[in-house]
Amino acid sequence: MRTIEWKNGIVTTIDQTKLPTEVLLLKISSCKELAEAIKTMQIRGAPLLGAAAAYGLALTAYHSGASHKEQLLKELNASAQLLKQTRPTAVNLFWSIDRILKRATKTVGNVETVAQTVVAEAEKIAAEDVEMNRKIGEHGSSLLNEGDTILTHCNAGSLATVDYGTALGVIRTAWKSGKEIKVVATETRPLLQGARLTTYELLRDGIPVTLITDSMVGYIMEKKMVDNVVVGADRIVKDAVVNKIGTYAIAVLAHTHNIPFYVAAPKSTFDLNRMAKDVVIEERKAEEVTQFAGVKTTPRNVAVFNPAFDMTPLKYVTAIICEVGVLSPRTSSMHTLRAHDYFP
Ligand code: MRU
Repeated sequence: MRTIEWKNGIVTTIDQTKLPTEVLLLKISSCKELAEAIKTMQIRGAPLLGAAAAYGLALTAYHSGASHKEQLLKELNASAQLLKQTRPTAVNLFWSIDRILKRATKTVGNVETVAQTVVAEAEKIAAEDVEMNRKIGEHGSSLLNEGDTILTHCNAGSLATVDYGTALGVIRTAWKSGKEIKVVATETRPLLQGARLTTYELLRDGIPVTLITDSMVGYIMEKKMVDNVVVGADRIVKDAVVNKIGTYAIAVLAHTHNIPFYVAAPKSTFDLNRMAKDVVIEERKAEEVTQFAGVKTTPRNVAVFNPAFDMTPLKYVTAIICEVGVLSPRTSSMHTLRAHDYFP
């Protein structure tokens, strides 16, 4: 099933905070509700945030009572501001909002035409995401060998995208092509996207998966229990890959142990005009660290630091797998893409 769907002015998605114990479908009919679902991480994962934000604007357009185009554009801009304040790090959210706003502004016609264009563009963004993930899977699967054990961090699967996944898309394609591979999923503290979501997806597909805590990565690499690392990304900038907190430590360990470290991400994740130092890293509330499954596990009033993402310098990245192929971050291949047909 697709993680997010649009039908007649209603967005249906899975509440990811409830997985894996409960598969609860959310029916969302306003941009405000959708923004709240992003903030609370019922909706999460960079490519999914892009598609969800686009659908948020589609909800505004579809349910608008605006009588003329300028009024609708004003409403769309207000919704865009609301959505942009939900989570700061994944660039996909900003990319899709700007793409929709540009399309709406350029549309010639009456208010109905603009509203229809916005809905159609959101549907296009979602459909493109699935297509890009399939291509990422095809390009990336050739990097994995029969018998490999692949370590992945956080959740970069169908739940983090519209469908199929980026890092898990690579793993899925390799598995479907008949390669006997195994996956090691890190727990991914503090919100357990690896333990709750990645293992859920892989078990559902029948792909062998072993769960470890984040602190076990060095040990299993030293024991030669990992052949490759494949992770997703929230933003790829000129000098780094920004992804879930803990990715940087895994990349340094992989480098130390001569293990290839691959990043799988679609074009909506690239932000090559920016450097790592210019990226806002989301800091989340202390309770995510001081509690476990709602139970307090720390002394009262302990100081907490809870950044949700980190930056991995490109020197630790073996290759970036995107829909146009496998790019080396150390040559100009990644950077020239931007100037040519990659970002028309
Ligand atoms: O905080 P989250 O769960 O939204 O973080 C998700 C990640 O860091 C993923 O690895 C990333 O978005 C890539 S998903 C294809």
